[in-house]
Amino acid sequence: FAAQDLRGLKILVTAGPTREAIDPVRYLSNRSSGKMGFALARTAMRRGAAVTLVTGPVALPAPPGVEVIRVQSAHEMAEAVFARAPQSRVLVKAAAVADFTVAAPAEHKIKKSGEELSLPLSATVDILRELGARKEPRQLLVGFAAESQAHYQEGERKLREKNLDLIVVNDVLDGQSGFAVDTNQVTLIGKNGRQEMPLLSKEDTADRIWDAVRALLDAQDAV
Ligand code: PMT
Repeated sequence: FAAQDLRGLKILVTAGPTREAIDPVRYLSNRSSGKMGFALARTAMRRGAAVTLVTGPVALPAPPGVEVIRVQSAHEMAEAVFARAPQSRVLVKAAAVADFTVAAPAEHKIKKSGEELSLPLSATVDILRELGARKEPRQLLVGFAAESQAHYQEGERKLREKNLDLIVVNDVLDGQSGFAVDTNQVTLIGKNGRQEMPLLSKEDTADRIWDAVRALLDAQDAV
């Protein structure tokens, strides 16, 4: 990227799904492929940032020049992110973190008995909300919202409640947008309004997100 406009910035990006173990061979997860988060990491690195990528289990190779930390569960992702957050100027949370985990994973493979099986779930820590609560004065926090209805209202609510600087809302019911595909159609919502993007590759979507982050950093620097 010609501009190198993120040079000198430490950026933390999260990507992919998490896996919550049911027993040693089974887990709960979701359809995230990691493509959006990896595109963010790659493009930020190209624009000169020092990038750390915390990713759940995905089939993607590590982008050259990016520090990659691979985790499995929501709990492991939280620990990896919290350990690195204080050193990061910008944090972008594209991971699809499980909201629920298995309360008591079985030590051995669960055998079928012909009976119904219920699986009590407990809530995971909301990493983004916690980062918002602990945010340092010059840190920028960017969240994602995967919505299937009331996109803008939900995005605006999360922006406010989680103390974010920017939220990237994607429609996850549109077949060309959101989980697993190579394209995305997002709306960026900040404190001063929203910007609707066209359908773009995840790479180009990532560059638009960095443009918005650069503008927020410039506004901070001007104060
Ligand atoms: O990986 P891909 O296949 O490329 O797909 C990309 C994507 C659709 C996964 C991505 O663009 C996206 O929308 N990621 C966020 C998905 C999500 O979990 O959205 P949410 O509305 O449930 O969560 C809102 C925000 O809170 C997210 O930034 C999420 O990282 C964060 N969160 C959620 C739960 C939790 N326990 N901790 C969190 O930090």
